This record gives sequence, structure tokens and C-alpha cells, in this order.
Amino acid sequence: MQTSNKFYVTTPIYYVNAKPHLGSLYSTVLADVAARWNQLQGKKTFLLTGTDEHGQKIAQSAQAAGKEPKAFVDGFIESFKDTWKAYAIHYNHFIRTTDPEHVKAVQAWIIKLKEKGDIYKGAYQGYYCTPCETFVTEKDIDTSVTGPDLKPACPSCSRATVYMEEECYFFKLSAYQDKLLKFYEQHPDFITPSERAQEVISFVKAGLKDLSISRTTISWGIPFPGDEKHVCYVWADALNNYISAIGYPHNMQEFNFWWPADLQVLGKDIVRFHAVYWPAFLMAADLAMPHKLLVHGWIKIGGQKMSKSLGNVVDPQELLQKYGADAVRYYLTRYIAVTQDSPFTIEELEQHINADLVNDLGNLLNRMLTLAQRNGLATIPAPAHWQESEVALQEFCSDMIAEFSAEMNACMYHRAYAHLWKYINIVNAYFHAQEPWKVVKNNPARFAEIISATAHALSAIGLLAWPAMPQKMEELLRMLGQSYEPGKNYLQLLQNAPWNQTFVTSMQGPLFMKILAPEPSETKTESKPEASAPAFPPITIDDFGKVALLVGTITNVDTIEKSDKLYALTVDLGEHGIRTVCSGVRQHFAPEDLLNKQGVFVANLQPRQMMGLTSQGMMLFAKDETGKLKMATVAGSVPNGSRLS
Ligand code: MSP
Repeated sequence: MQTSNKFYVTTPIYYVNAKPHLGSLYSTVLADVAARWNQLQGKKTFLLTGTDEHGQKIAQSAQAAGKEPKAFVDGFIESFKDTWKAYAIHYNHFIRTTDPEHVKAVQAWIIKLKEKGDIYKGAYQGYYCTPCETFVTEKDIDTSVTGPDLKPACPSCSRATVYMEEECYFFKLSAYQDKLLKFYEQHPDFITPSERAQEVISFVKAGLKDLSISRTTISWGIPFPGDEKHVCYVWADALNNYISAIGYPHNMQEFNFWWPADLQVLGKDIVRFHAVYWPAFLMAADLAMPHKLLVHGWIKIGGQKMSKSLGNVVDPQELLQKYGADAVRYYLTRYIAVTQDSPFTIEELEQHINADLVNDLGNLLNRMLTLAQRNGLATIPAPAHWQESEVALQEFCSDMIAEFSAEMNACMYHRAYAHLWKYINIVNAYFHAQEPWKVVKNNPARFAEIISATAHALSAIGLLAWPAMPQKMEELLRMLGQSYEPGKNYLQLLQNAPWNQTFVTSMQGPLFMKILAPEPSETKTESKPEASAPAFPPITIDDFGKVALLVGTITNVDTIEKSDKLYALTVDLGEHGIRTVCSGVRQHFAPEDLLNKQGVFVANLQPRQMMGLTSQGMMLFAKDETGKLKMATVAGSVPNGSRLS
């Protein structure tokens, strides 16, 4: 665990021959979660991301698009920046390898290595994989596999390599073999997870060859200092972004503050570049080693890596429209295990949004707030003494914070969030067992204790879930009358502070929206029923059970500008929360006809956008013989939230 008060984290820089996909988002979300986790401990953080713009692959893609490489890459930059912004990726710097400062930094690094005698001129003869931008050595080639045109296949991506012979400059990688092995031995935590470290160590032990770091058969790259018919090999260019972006060598004060990186996030396909070449490049430049590489697995679709070339990519912008940024961030953090490849399906995403976010967390918050507000406890004081059941809840919370922190510090984010959700389930079980909705009737003091304990637990949950879901958790904290303030060591506060807070609560609508299965096709109902067919085809009791018909009181009636039909009703559905329901009955009822009346609502209809508002249910009416609408209601008053059955 790093103890210094700064935290520098990097993402890989992305090839810009397409828009970002869910795999790119995954690497970036992990880095953002890491940065925010350290911010939660009051640290100064720096998150670096950006784009890898040079090299043969980009040059070929630009040519295929009929564009100059720079104009081609420029065309994708906004899609990266927009996606990161939409997903609340709070990066401090977005580096492009075409930035002049970066170009100068790479050239300065080459000059330094030349002076040290670590670079010499020679000729490369062998295979090259353009999609991976990598020189494939004879020993790595899998001769049992060949690419489509019978060229040896790349061991990493299985695509055909090309044979090439060209003059180039070599970096004396072989001279760093022993130093690297010693470094891995002395820093067993350098590569996480440790299985990846074993692969790297075996690779280095098998013998390192010097690495070609220049190309003469392409021109889209950084001119090689002193010999400008060469351009820098794209990986030697790209890896240096991690130091050039923070000031190397033009602002050494800034650089010395942030370097070495505390965490570098990358996918398993690029581990060799980061765990072998990069440390050797740094050793050659007399620079310190990064503290940790987090090597994650792949997101798979139908058993295959999601990738542009396979054409099976998921567009983060499309997910955003339907599910919102934080739900997707949560899913990636919790369910794409950093240690292995994980499948991705929309069904799983939706299922976890409904189960974890809507049911476990959102409903708990909603029920607690609704009960508190309805029973005059909008401001929730802390009791002078806690009962045994609340002491236990607090102890569970301390244990969870310890487990959660250990997993977050080890970058095992999926496990950390599993611990947090275990605790959310404990709080849910506590809340149900205490039955505050019954207790309130004859023991308001005890009711206040239950509500206060739940609010304390939710506040801790909100803070710890903030790295994964910053926007939703800031909303949750606001509903508890709190705000997230950068720079505070919240972890320390959570670990040490007794449960003695007063919460000034407010309701702001449900935190998460349930995702409902698409409506079945309505083509049948469009055709006229046959004369003998019943007007309403029979349904089973199970079908009926799917509809949540609840009684609620209309506590506010707002007219909607630009609509002469719609009202926005605020409806108190008891323990099911306070909802906004849009209803097109303005021509039938004046606001006072509806205000404070109890009506019947379909409470589990898929939320619908109406005139800029989200309608979270439907109010029921029937027409009288003159065509005038009458409210559906129950005879006599019943508690809000009562279900019609
Ligand atoms: N440009 C290089 C990195 C240079 S870093 C100095 C590169 N770019 S990339 O766009 O191809 O990939 C960037 C990152 O996205 C890698 O960490 C890669 O593992 C990750 N992902 C790409 N597809 C992925 C999945 N399907 N799943 C998870 N991550 C994946 O490599």
C-alpha cells in the first residue's frame, strides 16, 4: 500500500482508428475508480489518459479512409473526450502523442539513451504484426498456426504477420535482462495479479533480444533525432507518454512531484510492453520504476475478445442512453473481474441494475427517507445511546470498511464491491427485521433510532460506492443532507467517527430506475377482435400478479408548460416512495380536484419520458356515461402504498 499523499494513475493510451468501445471504457473506469478511491483518502491525485496516434496501423487506417494521418486521428479525439466526460472520468490531462511537448520528450529520451550507449544502428529481419505494432521473434511464432495468407500468425492476436527487412536503431534490451529479473524479485507486487507476473518472468528468463526502436519504411511517427529518415517505433514513442505528460523533461519540478506512477492500468494483451520494455526504458533513462501495474483481463462477447477488428464492440454511448453512466461504471467495476476475462451481456447488466442498484440500494434509501419524512423525521438526530442491534450494525460496518479497503488497495475492485453489497444486504435485513413502519405507531423514539442507524449505514455506503458511482452517490449523500468535499480524508473519518451525525434529509425521486423487459409486440391488439373472441383475453392470476396496483395520495399537482393536457403529480406511495406521475387529465380536473386525494396507480410500469419529465407510474381513471373521467379510488382511507389484490 502506498502511504505518500499523492497518487498518479495512468490508463493505456488508445489507438485512434475508431471510437472508444466498452473495452477501452473498462481500462479507463478502473483508473478513475483507483483515482477516486485515493481522493477519498484525501490524496492529491493525477489521472492521465490519452491517445496513441502514430505508427503503421494508424497510417494504414488513415490511408484506407482517404485522409492524412493527422486529420484522420483528429476526427476521433472528441469521441474519446466526450465518452470520458459522459462517464464522469475525471482525468487531469489528456495526452496525444502528436503533442509537441511529447514529441520533444521522446526525442530527448532517445538522445539520452544514445549518449549512454544503449542505442546502436543495425538491421531488423523478421516478422511484424501491424495490428499489435510488434516485432514477432522467431521463437514466439506459433508455426502450427498461420494467418489468412499463410504468413506466420502473431502469437498475441493470431493475425498474419508481415516479413520485413529494414535498417533500424536497436535498444540494448538484452543488457537489462538480469536487472529486470532482480527488480521483479525485489518487488513481488509490481505486477498484479501475480499470475501475470509469472508469465512475464518466464518470458524474460527465456532471454531478451535487443529491440528495434525505429522504422524506415513508414513516415508517420516521431522523427528519430540525428537520423531523420527513421521515425521512432510506436511503442517506444507511446510508452513515454506516462512521463512526458507530467513534465519530463520540460518541467522537472512537476515531474518529480508525480513520478513514479503509483498505478498503471492496462489489459493483458499489452503486459509485455509495460512490464518488460517500459521498466527497461526507464532504467536506461535513470528514472524510478512505477509502483504497480494492474493487468486486467478482457471483456468477451460470445466467448471472443470484444474488439474493433472482430466487429463485436459495444458502444458506451448507447449504454449511456439507456442505463446511465453510473450503472455501467458499477457493472464494469463489480462484475468484470480484474483478474480474468469476463463475458458481457445486456441481460446481466440489466439484471444487476435491477437487483443491486434498484432493489438493494435504491429501495433501501427510498424506504428509509419516505418513512422518515412521513413521520416528521426529515431531520434525523442521532440517539444518545445505541441498542444492541444498532451496535452490531455499526460493527458490521467497521469490518466491511476494513475488508473493502484492503481489496481496493490491492486493486481487487470487484471483490471490494462484493463486500460492500454484502453489507447493504445486512442493512436491508436489519431494516426489515426492525419493522420501523410498525414501530413508529407506538414507539417514536425507537423508530428514530432505527432510521438514524440506517442513515448512518447508508452514508458510509454512499461514500464507499462513490469511486464507482460518483454522480449517483453524490445524489444519495445530498438526500442525506451531506455533500462530497474533495480533499477530505473520508476513509479516516469513516474508520474513526462514532455514529453521531444528524441527517437533514430531502427526497429527490428514486436514485435508480428499474429496467423492465420490452413490451411484447402489440401487433395482435391492433387488429379488430373477432366477433366471437372475448373482449379481454383471459389472463392467469400470475399475469395479474405482475401488475403492482398501489394506493397513493397526490401531494402536489403541477401544470406542465407547453402541454394543455398533462399534470405532473407528486404521489406518496408510502413505503414505495414518492413518485412523479404524469397524467393527461388536465381538461377533466382542476388541480384542487386531485390534490390530497387517494388514487390508484400502476406502480411498476416502465418509466416514460413525457415533456422532459420521467413519469414513474400511471394513475387510473374510468369514463362515465358522458365521457367524463372519474378517479379510480378505494372506498375509505387506506395507508399509502397499500396494494390492490
Ligand atoms: N495503444 C496501445 C496502448 C499503448 S499504452 C502506452 C493499445 N491501444 S488499444 O486501443 O488497442 O487498447 C487499449 C487498452 O484497451 C488495452 O489495455 C486493452 O487491453 C484494452 N482493451 C481493448 N479491448 C478490450 C477488451 N475487449 N476488454 C478489456 N479491455 C480491452 O493497446
